[in-house]
Amino acid sequence: VSIALITGGYTAESEVSLKSAAFVFQQLDKSKYDVYTITVTKDSWFHVADNGIRYEINRDDFTLPIDDRIIRFDLAFIMLHGSPGEDGRLQGYFDMVGLPYTSCDALTSALTMNKAYTKAVLVGIPDLYLAKSIQLFESQRSEAVDTVKRELSIPYFVKPNAGGSSIGMTKVKAHLELHDAIEKAFNAENTGRQVLVEEFVDGREFSVGIYRKGNGLVVLPATEVITEREFFDYEAKYIAGQSTEITPADLTSDQRARVERLVKAIYTRLNCKGMVRIDFFLENGTDRFFFIEINTIPGQTAQSFIPQQIRAAGMTETEFYGGLIEQALV
Ligand code: DAL
Ligand code: MG
Repeated sequence: VSIALITGGYTAESEVSLKSAAFVFQQLDKSKYDVYTITVTKDSWFHVADNGIRYEINRDDFTLPIDDRIIRFDLAFIMLHGSPGEDGRLQGYFDMVGLPYTSCDALTSALTMNKAYTKAVLVGIPDLYLAKSIQLFESQRSEAVDTVKRELSIPYFVKPNAGGSSIGMTKVKAHLELHDAIEKAFNAENTGRQVLVEEFVDGREFSVGIYRKGNGLVVLPATEVITEREFFDYEAKYIAGQSTEITPADLTSDQRARVERLVKAIYTRLNCKGMVRIDFFLENGTDRFFFIEINTIPGQTAQSFIPQQIRAAGMTETEFYGGLIEQALV
């Protein structure tokens, strides 16, 4: 089986994508899979680098000419966070060239990359809470500060509405900081020029992986993340020692059952495919789970949650990624 492991990308998350893909590459069973790491950049679209030689993919049919051979792929394993690998663009392209892939389809990927639209679709799931928020468009940029002050109560999280890894995100505790935070989020590269401002939920933070196996859904053990920093920002996410992660999380059996029900309901409502990871706050005092966001290409770096959850579930990454491939090939 010939696998195109897709990495790179257009946003500041490309560095994370390279690490995720390197980790997956290392774990994939090479006796079963011929794996080619294919990097996406804005100027070349797709290329493979091999000992300093660069080979370009043929964009018409996604084949790889190497000297006098032509490699045809059976599957794309997408490990590219942000645009164009997590927002539906590559998924749409692969649909057009007829190549199956491991992730959610084009519609679900495009929808879930947009945090505000995702929340709108999730309204009404029993026991799922959504923090009050405002979606700001480029045309509303000049009145953004006034709108937020009028509609929401401080503190807020301000983030690019289609970003990831907390890049461009600020926790705002004083109105004086709001203008700069909104500008920073609008200016994040290739994240759609929309901003989401969300009321802060005081609580514990959890992240839960889920994937399809046959006709059933399997929920991975939840991770709780505790950080000494102001919030779980880019440094806390990717620099070892900047946060404490507990897998499986210390939850009561009622909380565990509830979070399992929630991730299954969210996965189903959004028509997900493959592995996704859903993040929540559990509000102090009320015991309510608030949806933060869904990641349809969740990170697979040495610091990421899913690898920890796979091991806590008693699997190896090699088995787990192999299972995703088999599922996507059905
Ligand atoms: N967006 C990052 C890669 C994650 O969800 O893990
Ligand atoms: Mg994310």
